[in-house]
Amino acid sequence: MAGDKVRVPDLARMKARKRKIAMLTAYDYPFARIFDQAGIDVILVGDSLGMTVQGRDSTLPVTLDEMIYHLRMVTRACTRALVIGDMPFLTYQVSAEDALRNAGRLIKEGGAEAVKLEGGIAVAETVRRLVSVDIPVMGHIGLTPQSVHRMGGYRVQGRTEGRAAGCRERLLEDAAALEAAGAFAIVLEGMPAELGHEITERCGVPTIGIGAGPECDGQVLVMHDLLGLTQNHRPRFVKAYAALAENAAAAAAAYAREVREGVFPAPEHCYPRKELSS
Ligand code: KIV
Repeated sequence: MAGDKVRVPDLARMKARKRKIAMLTAYDYPFARIFDQAGIDVILVGDSLGMTVQGRDSTLPVTLDEMIYHLRMVTRACTRALVIGDMPFLTYQVSAEDALRNAGRLIKEGGAEAVKLEGGIAVAETVRRLVSVDIPVMGHIGLTPQSVHRMGGYRVQGRTEGRAAGCRERLLEDAAALEAAGAFAIVLEGMPAELGHEITERCGVPTIGIGAGPECDGQVLVMHDLLGLTQNHRPRFVKAYAALAENAAAAAAAYAREVREGVFPAPEHCYPRKELSS
């Protein structure tokens, strides 16, 4: 499967063959191209761009037009990875018909091959409607960032006993409702590893974990976390595979120093004068 284009049905095949799915967010052409060429299976243009790219404190203000703008850059860069577009807050909750029009724009105008939306039982009918017109849908349950105000912050779900027992049952029901509605995969975010494992075992469609333990059928990370570009709080589930913030800061500081000292540009960076031919 290494060099072949990844398509929606491939994810089910990967689950069946126990081949883990590697998914990553991207928001622009250069990074999407690097990740696509590095063999990432699925690239998500996440509404996390509200925080990682726009510097907002939640994903809630992100608009559909902004998602389309970023999707176009990413789809232009990808030849192999499956590209999924996130549906921003209030673009799918109002009605199934509204969701259909908005998901259609991510596909028609942004070039997405599938869409992702947050929620379980509450959005199952909407998922069914999108799937009925062949728009592939990825679900997203657990810590759903668009529910930040209800959750009272970005909180791990289904962790403590008691109230969490109900939460655990609800998450199992949410996953079952999404699968029954036709979702082709489900993101499990911010839950104990045991619960991620249980949902993955019970679920017929692939699960993609982010802070949901190693037993999910795949994993997703936000690219800024993976590359060490995030300068604020780093959640427990994040592993930074590079330290680009430090590298970029060092490069910018070295450049500023050399400009001020007259070291840059050196002769090799200057265009020589053209000899006049007689
Ligand atoms: O918006 C996003 O980047 C996401 C991932 C964290 C799954 O939803």
